[in-house]
Amino acid sequence: MRIDIITVLPDLIKSPFEASILKRAIEKGLVEVHFHNLRDYTTNNYKTVDDYQFGGGAGMVMMIEPIDKCISALQAERPYDEIIYMTPDGVTLNQGIANELSLKGNMIILCGHYKGVDQRVRDRFVTREISIGDYVLSGGELGAAVLCDAIIRLIPGVLNDETSALTDSFQDNLLAPPVYTRPAEYKGMKVPDVLLSGNFAKIEAWREQQALLRTQERRPDLLEE
Ligand code: ADE
Repeated sequence: MRIDIITVLPDLIKSPFEASILKRAIEKGLVEVHFHNLRDYTTNNYKTVDDYQFGGGAGMVMMIEPIDKCISALQAERPYDEIIYMTPDGVTLNQGIANELSLKGNMIILCGHYKGVDQRVRDRFVTREISIGDYVLSGGELGAAVLCDAIIRLIPGVLNDETSALTDSFQDNLLAPPVYTRPAEYKGMKVPDVLLSGNFAKIEAWREQQALLRTQERRPDLLEE
């Protein structure tokens, strides 16, 4: 997989890729991540990427020309399966979308700023618009980092224990059951006996029941889907 991130703030988005699982995935060659500073694709001396909106109103709009230049330069090098625009009015990210995108080859992620990008960018280039939740961030960079993390950890070979992504919350539309580690008792708080029983069929049944209970309590909407 190759991900190209287009941003006006490359420094804001680089660090999540320099630690832990994402770093290891890159080092193992399972994913390539490239950052492109939109200002490098401007033609004016001030490296302006935004302008006032037609029709008036507060807030600047990201111009089509630098974005076109950047995307076209990338597309001249290789085909892309997806061009994703991070925006609060996109489709809300969920595990199903992350699963789907983890199977793609090359992707571009465009980070919005200010009032967003000129609508013609969305009409012409973008294949998918994604929001990470019903709140407004200062820009698309943190959303892009969240999206990349959710996708990259699903690529086979990225997690050490291949099965662990399969037992995450939201796989099967269920939240994950409670987990415990040593000590078996801490300040009078005990780990449920069943987990110490060594009876794997019983443990599995308990985990399924707990997952269902937790989902009923916290996210009944998932059970209706
Ligand atoms: N840009 C600003 N807010 C955002 C959000 N909630 N999701 C994705 N990109 C955004």
